[in-house]
Amino acid sequence: MEKTLVLIKPDAVERNVIGEIITFYEKNNLKVTNLKMLKASKDTAERHYEEHKGRPYFEELISYITRSPLCALVIEGEDAIAKVREINGSTDPEKASKNTIRGNFALSKTENSVHASDSRENAEREINIWFETESTSNFSIGNLLLGNV
Ligand code: CDP
Ligand code: MG
Repeated sequence: MEKTLVLIKPDAVERNVIGEIITFYEKNNLKVTNLKMLKASKDTAERHYEEHKGRPYFEELISYITRSPLCALVIEGEDAIAKVREINGSTDPEKASKNTIRGNFALSKTENSVHASDSRENAEREINIWFETESTSNFSIGNLLLGNV
């Protein structure tokens, strides 16, 4: 079993497709084990994308990812890291196949609807960034029912 971090990015939340996107993962036998919606701070966005610092698109990326709320999810399943990236599709929507999330929803290379971790190390790092105060080892619904979030 693996865990990975998914972001449903602002362009997708703005266009009311959170549910359609989550359905792609669920239909592929992957489980949402934690989720929340928030407007990312500049600091969180820069930590998340720290390996892109200095790239020509970095400032545009940070301004996009912080402009309106996003949805952060922990997704769990066998081979979840690779599977989720396959379901998301290519970074560039023009190269993403039509049965992927980006092939369906992405608007541009920057506004490409979803993020997913690319390795176990980054999955752990990113889950800690977005869910740093919470336990992600159990189903959140238990925590929610207990009001313990
Ligand atoms: O998200 P993914 O791992 O597929 O792509 P990345 O190369 O790690 O880039 C991270 C994010 O930066 C992308 O998802 C885009 O939102 C953005 N990006 C961009 O705006 N312009 C580029 N030329 C490359 C990436
Ligand atoms: Mg990446």
